[in-house]
Amino acid sequence: MQEKIIILDFGSQTTQLIGRRVRELGEYCEILPYNKFPYDDPSVIGVILSGSPFSVYDEKAFHTELSRLRGHLPVLGICYGAQFIAYTSGGSVEPAPSREYGRAHLTKIDTANPLFKNIPAGSQVWMSHGDTITAIPDSFNTIASTDKVAIAAYQVEGEKTWGVQFHPEVYHSEHGTQLLRNFVVDICGGKQDWTAESFIESTVAQLKEQLGDDKVVLGLSGGVDSSVAAVLLNRAIGKNLTCIFVDHGMLRKNEFRDVLHDYECLGLNVIGVDASEKFFSELAGVTEPERKRKIIGKGFIDVFDEEAHKIKDVKWLAQGTIYPDCIESLSITGTTIKSHHNVGGLPEKMNLRLCEPLRLLFKDEVRAVGRQLGMPDHLIKRHPFPGPGLAVRILGDITPEKVRILQDADDIFIRGLRDWDLYDKVWQAGAILLPVQSVGVMGDERTYERAIALRAVTSTDAMTADWAHLPYDFMAKVSNDIINKVRGVNRVCYDISSKPPATIEWE
Ligand code: XMP
Repeated sequence: MQEKIIILDFGSQTTQLIGRRVRELGEYCEILPYNKFPYDDPSVIGVILSGSPFSVYDEKAFHTELSRLRGHLPVLGICYGAQFIAYTSGGSVEPAPSREYGRAHLTKIDTANPLFKNIPAGSQVWMSHGDTITAIPDSFNTIASTDKVAIAAYQVEGEKTWGVQFHPEVYHSEHGTQLLRNFVVDICGGKQDWTAESFIESTVAQLKEQLGDDKVVLGLSGGVDSSVAAVLLNRAIGKNLTCIFVDHGMLRKNEFRDVLHDYECLGLNVIGVDASEKFFSELAGVTEPERKRKIIGKGFIDVFDEEAHKIKDVKWLAQGTIYPDCIESLSITGTTIKSHHNVGGLPEKMNLRLCEPLRLLFKDEVRAVGRQLGMPDHLIKRHPFPGPGLAVRILGDITPEKVRILQDADDIFIRGLRDWDLYDKVWQAGAILLPVQSVGVMGDERTYERAIALRAVTSTDAMTADWAHLPYDFMAKVSNDIINKVRGVNRVCYDISSKPPATIEWE
C-alpha cells in the first residue's frame, strides 16, 4: 500500500505548491477539498492544512472537523490552517494592524522542537496574511516568532499538532523544504519511497491488470504528457495500444515528420494522419481566435474518431491528463466544489472507458518518469505548445502561405535558442505573424512586407510569466537571419510584456 500525506485544501493559491514540495521529498501526497478527508484510508501518515483566502471568523470560511485528526495523526497547519487550529481550540485570530506580505525573519526559534531541526534562528520565511493569531490556549507553546508576529509557529502540548503562520512551501522561505522534511520524514515517519521507478513499476502492473487484453487508443499531440502516457502504456500492453497523431497543418516546421519518427523509434504503434487540407479549408477566412480554437478542437475530434473506428474492438481511450487538471478546486465565490477535469470532449463522443495513467503526477514528475522510461531529452524538455498551434499565432485569417512564413521564422528562432543554449532557460518561445505590413529597404528596393513578433517567456506554471531577457547578440542574429532568409518578412520585434497584464499567446 502506498503511504501518503493528505493536504486538505482550504482554497489557497499555494496548495498545489505544498503538494509539489512534499512530492519532491519523495513522499506521495494527495490534495483533497478541506471537507473530504479519507477517514477510512489506513495509508495516510500525516495531514497538512493549507492556507485560505478567508478569515477563520468569516461566515463563509471553510471549516472542518479536526477531532478525528488531531491526536490520531500528525497535523501541520499552514497560515489559515494554523489559525484555524488555534481558533477552534479557543485561541484568538484578529485582523493584523497591517497586512503582512513578503519576507520576514524568524528572530526566535525553539531549535529543540523537531519541526525546526536544522533550521537556524534568523531564517527567512515568506508571509502572506491579513489576520494574525493574537492568543493561543495554554496547551499551545509558541516555538517561533518574527519581529511583527509573536506567534509565528506553535506546537500543541502532548500532541503531534503544529501550526506555522508563514508559508514553508514558497521558494522564498529559505528553509521551507527542511521544515516540510522535518514534518513529513521525521514526524510522520515518511519512507520517501515515491520515485519515478516505483511509479513506473506499480503503474505498469496496475495497467496490465486493469486493461488485460483490451485494445486502447490514445491521441498524441507531440507534447510531453501524451508522449509519456503512450510510452508507459506501451510498456504495459505493447501492441494493444494504438496511438493517433493528427497533423492539423498548424504545427511547427517539420514537426509532424520529426515527432512521428521519434515515436516510431520509441517502438510505439502509431498512425500519423495528415489532415491539414481539411483544417485549412475550414479555417479559411476565419479571424476570430475563439472560433479558430473551436474549429480546430472539433476537427481534431472528428479526425481522431474516424481513425479510431478503423481499429476493431477498442474499449479504452487513454489520455495524458496530469494531476493539476484533476485536483478538485474550491470555488471561493460559493461553497460549491467543482471538478476541473480536462477531457476535451473526446470521451463523450466516443463512448469508451477512460484510462489516465498520469493523473496522479505533477508536470516535473511526468518528465522524471519519461526520463526513467528512456525517452530522449528533446521530447521531454519540449516547450509547451498550444493545441491550436500556429493558428493562434497568426493574427487574423490563416492561409498556407502565412503558415509557411511563420513556420520558417519560428524555426530560425527555436533553432537559435537551442544553438545558443537558451532553449532550456525559457519556459516557452515562438514567433507571431502580425497582421500589418511595414516599409523597408533591401538593396535599392523599397519593400512593403510582413512584421514578425518574437515571444519568449520565463515562468513556472504559465499562470504568470515574464518576458525572457535574451542576450542582445542573440536577438540581433535571429532578427538578421529571419529578415534575410524568410521571404515576405522585413521587420522583427520582441515582445516585452509580462503576464499579467498580457498573456503568453497573442490570441
Ligand atoms: P496564455 O496565452 O493564456 O497561455 O497566457 C497560457 C498557456 O496556455 C497555452 N495555451 C493553450 N494551450 N490550447 C492549448 O492547448 C489553447 O487554446 C491554448 N491557448 C494558450 C499557452 O501556449 C501557454 O503555455
